[in-house]
Amino acid sequence: MSQKKIKIFTDIGVLMTLAGVVKKQGRQVQTDDLSLIKKAAMVVEGDQIVWVGTQSRLPKSLGKAQKISLHGNFVYPGFIDSHTHLVFAGHRKNEFELRNQGVSYQQIAEAGGGIKASVQATRKASFDELKKLAQARVDLHLSQGVTTIEVKSGYGLELKTEVKILKVAQSLKKAKIVTTYLGAHAIPTEFKNEHEYVEQLKKDLKVIQKKKLSRRVDIFIEKSYFSPSVALDYLNFAKSIGFDLTLHADQMSRTGATELAIQLQARSADHVIFLNDSDRVQLARSETVAVLLPTADFYLQCPYPQARDLIDQGACVALASDFNPGSSPTQNISLVGLLARLNMKMSLAEVFAALTYGGARALGLEKNQGALLPDYKADFFVSDKNHQDWFYDLDNFQTLSTYVGGQKVFQRK
Ligand code: NIG
Ligand code: FE
Repeated sequence: MSQKKIKIFTDIGVLMTLAGVVKKQGRQVQTDDLSLIKKAAMVVEGDQIVWVGTQSRLPKSLGKAQKISLHGNFVYPGFIDSHTHLVFAGHRKNEFELRNQGVSYQQIAEAGGGIKASVQATRKASFDELKKLAQARVDLHLSQGVTTIEVKSGYGLELKTEVKILKVAQSLKKAKIVTTYLGAHAIPTEFKNEHEYVEQLKKDLKVIQKKKLSRRVDIFIEKSYFSPSVALDYLNFAKSIGFDLTLHADQMSRTGATELAIQLQARSADHVIFLNDSDRVQLARSETVAVLLPTADFYLQCPYPQARDLIDQGACVALASDFNPGSSPTQNISLVGLLARLNMKMSLAEVFAALTYGGARALGLEKNQGALLPDYKADFFVSDKNHQDWFYDLDNFQTLSTYVGGQKVFQRK
């Protein structure tokens, strides 16, 4: 007999399992693939689901178990936000005003603003200050049903601060956090050029690995940031010592970063806006997840990625918030989904799949996250909204409660 505590969640109005999405590995998702079960129950042992199904078929031999009625409400797999820059200090409200007056993101960066402005503020902030800010952001995410959050460093651009950011990320409570080392977010003023800086980054990477601060590496490939050739050298090195790869790819211009991501079998290529037809075909055929970040496109007023084409050709797609103080100063997951429907013409089912299974796959967690099935983690939220209510209006998006590993981590007051 197992010693783990058994909980039976009963009286679920509709349970979204995503069994069909899992079967198709997140490709060519149709409405039926949401695999909704009416009048459902879910059995959780420890942090893991052991049974889901129609309540009338609940196994009788469960022994001593705690029963929790969900009163006819809806249960969804927790959202997985697979791309955020959630640990930062300060804000960039001044830049937002400038951008609205016609100054571009690139011009602001060249004048010492942009990422570098956040670097200055984040270098100055103490661990405790950063932790307080970041935990409040995690709590806001939990209240919207997000149970796993990827958190990038990248507002340090020096080992000491990058370590501080990643340690803050690892100290965050209640949600599951996946850290990513983004030392290659911009070239800090202390370095002459990208070549010099990347040599330093390779050394720093070993420290990050030794301190077990992250198993993932990201890089921003763009004009005035990192070139594809330097990125190739850096990413090859990272891969050779065991890091998983993810790339900020073709966000503002076509650099060839998506091709690079596919070639290097990166977990994900993120943004993927300025792609040509062949890039999209290759990405759709690859194992690399296309992570789409529509709130960044909304704030930057740039084109949206051609999600329809990617999805129709068979790509596995994730949607994420890209939450950061510059290009996406919002954590609103409802807005992410709404923009995906409105401006990228993704179907409702595709949006749900992209915010759950797709995110899990982008983070390499798809074996036991991103769906509600036996052997998956009991990461879910309870809502009074049915699935068609989602990503339609932007109001009342708070969950009734959110669970991570079978434990309640958020309860609406
Ligand atoms: O994903 N493109 C680079 N990184 C972020 C922007 C970060 C910032 O502006 O601070 C992005 O959009
Ligand atoms: Fe980003």
